[in-house]
Amino acid sequence: MCGIVGYIGKKLAFPILLSGLKRLEYRGYDSFGFFVLDSNPPATPNKPFLFKKVGKISEAEGELSNLKVDGGIGIAHTRWATTGAVTEVNAHPHFDCREDIFLVHNGIIENYREIKEKLEKEGHKFRSQCDSEVLCHLIEKYFNGNLEEAVRKTLKEVRGAYGIAVISKKDPQKIVLAKLSSPLLLGIGEDEFLVASDPAAVITHTRQVINLDDNEIAVIKPDNFFILKEKPLVQIEWTLEEAEKKGYPHFMLKEIMEEPEAIENAIRGRLMIEEGSVKLGGLDSISEKLREINRLILVACGTASFAARVGEYMLEEYAEIPAEVDIGSEFRYRKPVVDKNTAGIFVSQSGETADTLAALKEMKQKGILTLGITNVVGSAQARETDAGVYTRSGPEIAVASTKAFLGQLATLAMLTVYLGRQREMALVMGKRIVSELAKLPELAKDVLKSAPEIEKLAKKYKDYKNFWFIGRKYNAPIASEGALKLKEISYLHAEGVAGGELKHGSLALIDENFPTVAICPSDSVYEKMVSNIQEIKARGGPVIAVATEGNEDIKKIVDDVIYIPKTLEMLTPMLSVIPLHLFSYYVAALLGHDVDRPKNLAKSVTVE
Ligand code: AGP
Ligand code: GLU
Repeated sequence: MCGIVGYIGKKLAFPILLSGLKRLEYRGYDSFGFFVLDSNPPATPNKPFLFKKVGKISEAEGELSNLKVDGGIGIAHTRWATTGAVTEVNAHPHFDCREDIFLVHNGIIENYREIKEKLEKEGHKFRSQCDSEVLCHLIEKYFNGNLEEAVRKTLKEVRGAYGIAVISKKDPQKIVLAKLSSPLLLGIGEDEFLVASDPAAVITHTRQVINLDDNEIAVIKPDNFFILKEKPLVQIEWTLEEAEKKGYPHFMLKEIMEEPEAIENAIRGRLMIEEGSVKLGGLDSISEKLREINRLILVACGTASFAARVGEYMLEEYAEIPAEVDIGSEFRYRKPVVDKNTAGIFVSQSGETADTLAALKEMKQKGILTLGITNVVGSAQARETDAGVYTRSGPEIAVASTKAFLGQLATLAMLTVYLGRQREMALVMGKRIVSELAKLPELAKDVLKSAPEIEKLAKKYKDYKNFWFIGRKYNAPIASEGALKLKEISYLHAEGVAGGELKHGSLALIDENFPTVAICPSDSVYEKMVSNIQEIKARGGPVIAVATEGNEDIKKIVDDVIYIPKTLEMLTPMLSVIPLHLFSYYVAALLGHDVDRPKNLAKSVTVE
C-alpha cells in the first residue's frame, strides 16, 4: 500500500527520503515521487526538485543515485492508486496552479469530485485525475501566508481518509501534517524532524515518535514542532524488521495470512471469464510460437519444484501437452532430448536461484523457447527467459516460501488455460476453470479461519520427531511441500510420499510414534487415499487428514481433520497447502525456532 516520508533539518533531505521510501517498498506500490526545497534558500534559491515516476524505485536506481539534490526540506510518496490511472501525472507529490503548494497524500478523498467541480468553476486548473490534487488547490485558495491555517480550513471541506504532508514555497520553513484514518507519525531527531506513514521509514534516524491522532494537524520546522493538540511521546520498541511485520510475530505468519491476497494479485486483471480464457500480457510476444509447442519441461527447485509438479498434472490433463518436471540441480546432468517444439518453463520466487538459472542457460544453449514464472521484477530469470508471467505476490521475506507458492499455483493454472484454449480446451471448460479460480481468494480466506484449530494441532503433535505427508495426483506434490515446510523451520524429520508408494517400503516406518498428514480432498483419488489411511491406522500410526468440508466419514477413521472448501480438483492444492503452511509455522514457533531465518538456509540460493 501507499507510503509517506518527509524530512526537515540540517542534512540533505533527498537521500533520507529515498532510503525511507525504500523501507516502505514492502508495502507494495505502483509509482513514486519526491519534492525537495531549500528551506534556507541562498541568494539565488535552487529550483525546487520535483521527481515523479511510474514503477519501482529500484528501476530508477541509476537515475536517482546520480541526482545531486540540495535542500533540507522534502516530502516523498509511494502510491497505490485508488483514483486515477497509474501515470506519472497522477503520482504524488501533487501541486496547485501556481506550483507553490506541494502535497503527498495517503487515503481517499471521497468528495473530491464536487470539490474539483467547484474549484474549476473558480478558475483552478487541474493537471491530474487523482483525488489528492483537490487538496492542493483548496490550500491554495485559503493560503494567506500561513500554511497550517490554510490546511485547517481545507480539511473542514474534505470527507474521506487522509494522511498528508504539505510544503509551501511561500512559507518554506515548515512541513504541515494532518491525519484522519490513514496513519501518520512524526519522528523527533537531533535538530531534525521526520514524517512517515510507517515506523519502518524513520527507525534508522530516531525511535522517538509521535503518532498523530485523527483530526490533528502538526507543524514541523527545522528547530521545533507543534501539534494543535498535546500528544504523549512514545518509544518505538520495534526493530526495523518488526516495523515491517505489521504486528505479526513473524514474517512467515504475515505472509501465510497474505496467501489469499497473493492469489488475488496473481489473477487480478488476467481472468476473462466470458471468453473462458486468460490474458497473460507477458506471453504476447511468443503467443504464436506457443501454439507449436508439443512438450514442456518445467524446471525449479524446492518449493517452486512442487508448484511445477502440480502444474505438470494441470498441463497434461487440461492443456493436453506432455509435461515433465526436473529440479534445477539435476537437469544440468541430463541429456534431455529436446527439439524446436519443446519449451522450458522456469518457476522461481526469487528468479535468482543458481540451479534453476543454470538449467535455463542450458535450455537456451539448445535454442529452446523459455518461459519464466517469477515473483521478482527484473530478476535474472525475468531477464534471461524469452517471456514470462510475474506472480505479483509481493515481497516474501521469510526464508520458507509460502504466499509465493500460491502465486505460482495460480499462475500455472492460468498458463494451463492459456495453452489449453490454444488447443482442444472447450469454452465451457475454460469458463469453468477461470470462474472457479476467481473464487479462490475468498475460499483461501475461509481456510485461514481454521488457524486456531491448526495451532491446537501443532501443540498436540509438536513433540513427535518424524512425519509422513501423503497425497495423490494433484496433492502428491503438496505432500512434498508440507514435508519441506515442516522440516525446514521446525527441524523435525518429515517426508512427502505419494499415497500409493507407502506400501512399497515407507510403511515400514509407521507406528504410534510416526504421525502422517494425509491430504485427501473429495476428488478422483479420495477412495485410494482412504485405503492408504487405513493401511496406516492398521499399524497404529496417528493420522491428520486434510479433507473437504462436509465429509463426516473421514472423522471415523483418522485422529484429526482439517477441512478445506470444495473446488475443482486441479485447484485443490491452492487450498490444501494452506493448513500445512500454518501447521509447520505453529510447530516451529512452539518449538521456539527462528521461524523467519531457519538455520543453514538462505532465502535465495544463488550458489550451485
Ligand atoms: C522453500 O520454502 C525454500 N526456501 C526453498 O526450497 C525455495 O523454494 C527454493 O530455494 C527455490 O527458491 P526460488 O523459488 O526463489 O527459486
Ligand atoms: N487516493 C490517492 C491516489 O489515488 C492516494 C492513494 C494512496 O494512498 O497511495 O493517488
